[in-house]
Amino acid sequence: MKGILLAGGSGSRLWPLTQVVSKNLLPVYDKPMVYYPLSTLMLAGIREILVITRPEEQALFRRVLGDGGQFGLRLSYAAQAEPRGLADAFLIGAAFVAGGPAALILGDNIFYGDGLITLLAATRERIESAPDAGASIFSYTVRDPGRYGIVELDAAGHPVGIEEKPARPKSRNAVVGLYFYDGRVTDYARAVRPSARGEIEITDINRAYLEAGALSVTRFGRGYAWFDAGTPESLIQAGAFLQAVEERQGLKVGCLEEIAWRQGFITTAQFDAARARLPDSAYARYLAEIRDNF
Ligand code: TTP
Repeated sequence: MKGILLAGGSGSRLWPLTQVVSKNLLPVYDKPMVYYPLSTLMLAGIREILVITRPEEQALFRRVLGDGGQFGLRLSYAAQAEPRGLADAFLIGAAFVAGGPAALILGDNIFYGDGLITLLAATRERIESAPDAGASIFSYTVRDPGRYGIVELDAAGHPVGIEEKPARPKSRNAVVGLYFYDGRVTDYARAVRPSARGEIEITDINRAYLEAGALSVTRFGRGYAWFDAGTPESLIQAGAFLQAVEERQGLKVGCLEEIAWRQGFITTAQFDAARARLPDSAYARYLAEIRDNF
């Protein structure tokens, strides 16, 4: 399965932080924000990824992530001239996806929790297993549902309705920024018309799958952490959370070289070569430490 990392957008809620740099490159504790969503795609076992950025920021992303070879990935880049909405990922990425299944992750979404790798890999395998396997999305309980896409579930956990930023939310189940779709997604994306706020909404793609009886929703329970680091508050909360976890365990979250090595995307020799290129830093010392001790 191919993956799309959507890292454009205007970042207006983080102004003035985002005057000259993309939100998705801002620091979240000890790494650029984009490391975390990229690591989530890697944990799902996805290695061929299209990174969508604002045109003027593409060079910066290339400097940070390169062609992905150091992580055992094949990264390509595309530009989004205007933040037209999340569904635009599948219009810009239509040739890349080429009618096959695809996962989309938003560049400011950070996931953490036990069992995440198994869940992601199983979801990818299920959506890959048949051309009409459907769509798989995830929900998370939030305090302020009016800010999100909200899905309503019946007693059996099946979705019965989905709405974007509802004025009167029918549940507190927010749809998180990670989506797995079968090969129909490009056609559904082409059919989406701009919403009242002028965006082509991913919620409309999800509703198309729902109406086709092909949408499944998995709830991330309370044991998971999900952040969209798009406001000053959530940016610092995500950073503080990750710092606490990393300090306590002596293990890093979203360390791309480590994940590539543990997933078998790169050999130990390639891991060592990637390490050798890094400047002397806590990050490089961490890689040396896990290489020999775990
Ligand atoms: P949002 O947080 O919805 O939008 P934004 O980044 O433009 O920020 P703000 O609302 O503060 O102006 O976007 C979520 C992620 O998706 C973020 O990583 C940016 C990305 N994105 C795009 O790449 N293109 C788009 O058209 C939109 C709407 C978002």
